[in-house]
Amino acid sequence: MAILKVARLGHPVLRKIAEPVPPEGIGAPVIQQLIDDMIETMVEYDGAGLAAPQVHVPQQIVVFEVEGNPRYPDAESIPLTVLINPKITPTTQRLEEDWEGCLSVPDLRGQVPRYTQVRVEAYDRHGKKLNYIAKDFQARVVQHECDHLIGKVFVDRMKSMDSLAFTREF
Ligand code: NI
Repeated sequence: MAILKVARLGHPVLRKIAEPVPPEGIGAPVIQQLIDDMIETMVEYDGAGLAAPQVHVPQQIVVFEVEGNPRYPDAESIPLTVLINPKITPTTQRLEEDWEGCLSVPDLRGQVPRYTQVRVEAYDRHGKKLNYIAKDFQARVVQHECDHLIGKVFVDRMKSMDSLAFTREF
């Protein structure tokens, strides 16, 4: 296990479209090690989630978990989830704004509109197919992390920059 270096906004890897992982390759030691390292890195930096491009790997892998996170003290908890080649489809037109931050955009927070409900189709880390509905905060986290796979960060999704704030002022 290792704590990986997190790319910050300005690094071109954050703007790349990530490649899918061949499903038959999900069990490969290199992928399993990457997933373990991503989880360890997310925990180390108190992230709610992490996408592989954030650790300089342009592949479609995201991890997230929210459980007593000091950066999100009021958030509902989300079990540790690993998604490979995720596909997100909104199942509502309803958007809700709330605060987001990102380990690749350190010290900043902003209000971001997100769909309140999405269908998630992906593989888990064992290559098993997942297909479920994510709601509210979990839907927000999934949309944020999957945006990293298409070269987007939360500031791209803000309707207005008026709410952009340093965490210390927040
Ligand atoms: Ni992020």
